[in-house]
Amino acid sequence: MLRAGEAIQIPQDVEAAAMNDPVIAEIESLLRWQHEHYGDLREGEVADYIPELTKTPADLFGIAVTLHDGRTVAVGDASYPFTIQSISKVYTFPMLLDLIGREGIYSLVGVQPSSDPFNAITLDPRTNRPFNPMVNTGAIAVAGRLREVLGPNAFEAILDTFSRAAGRALDVDEKVFESERQEGHRNRAIGHLLRAAGVFHASVDEVLDLYFRQCSVLVTAEDLAMMGATLSNLGAHPVTRDPVFGLEAVRDTLSVMFGCGMYDGAGDWATRVGLPAKSGVGGGIMGVVNRQLGVGVFSPRLDEVGNSVRGKLCCIHLSENLGMHPFDATNAGSSFFSAISGRR
Ligand code: DON
Repeated sequence: MLRAGEAIQIPQDVEAAAMNDPVIAEIESLLRWQHEHYGDLREGEVADYIPELTKTPADLFGIAVTLHDGRTVAVGDASYPFTIQSISKVYTFPMLLDLIGREGIYSLVGVQPSSDPFNAITLDPRTNRPFNPMVNTGAIAVAGRLREVLGPNAFEAILDTFSRAAGRALDVDEKVFESERQEGHRNRAIGHLLRAAGVFHASVDEVLDLYFRQCSVLVTAEDLAMMGATLSNLGAHPVTRDPVFGLEAVRDTLSVMFGCGMYDGAGDWATRVGLPAKSGVGGGIMGVVNRQLGVGVFSPRLDEVGNSVRGKLCCIHLSENLGMHPFDATNAGSSFFSAISGRR
């Protein structure tokens, strides 16, 4: 277990390789271009339904990419801490899948895109279960089962898993936690809906405390890139080699992110960007290129469906320029990425 203040060290050979590396240089020039060209954008609003979030300076902007071997490029406010919010759903889902297996998890939650907003108070009418684990109904169902399986120490286990995926000991923003706990009435309604439908049997208040806490974990854009790289690296942290998630869990998590991670914007995202990704109302977006890299962007102004405006533009730009869309007919990404793989 990582303790507060502990961070993994990037081995010197990785750091040295990164300094004279044409792949790193190319990614760095793309991230610098994004920072320069999108830096003046003022579209979108900071989320205000959790009052504490309005205190985040709206125009912060950080971008980071971590390759599957731990080499990292970061520009702007990439080490500024903000709350992970819904991106936490990407890590509680595989955690529970590893604990209870596919049969267990898919009797709890589906994998269907819902086309609903993230906080819709609704279940899939065909199954009376949440549509998928990326919307709030599904994530609260996952939190409920984690509480049942792990007992009162469930949050410590969640924080430990997130920290292992990031490679450093993460912490909680207690003010954001309290703020959402006070104002999270829609999520309380979801908790009672799930309890009434028999999706979980634990106390609604305890389950919601767990969910609000997981959303209040502090990360940076650099952490998100590293946490994405852990998923891209078959579930093992790129530097520590810690096997955080099993292979089935990674496969299913990336699939459900691809179909459902960007909520009612998911179809547009799949077409334009083509990467499994997840957004959070704290302003983060995390994306993954399987076996290659993780992307983390932080910019708190959100569009109408709750996705970071600049974050989305950065992911589109990166995907187009590195040929990362899996169905890109020019196949430009293959040669770029074989350059990555060929180097180490
Ligand atoms: O459930 C909520 O309202 C928040 N804690 C998380 C929502 C969120 O991040 C949605 N993502 N864009």
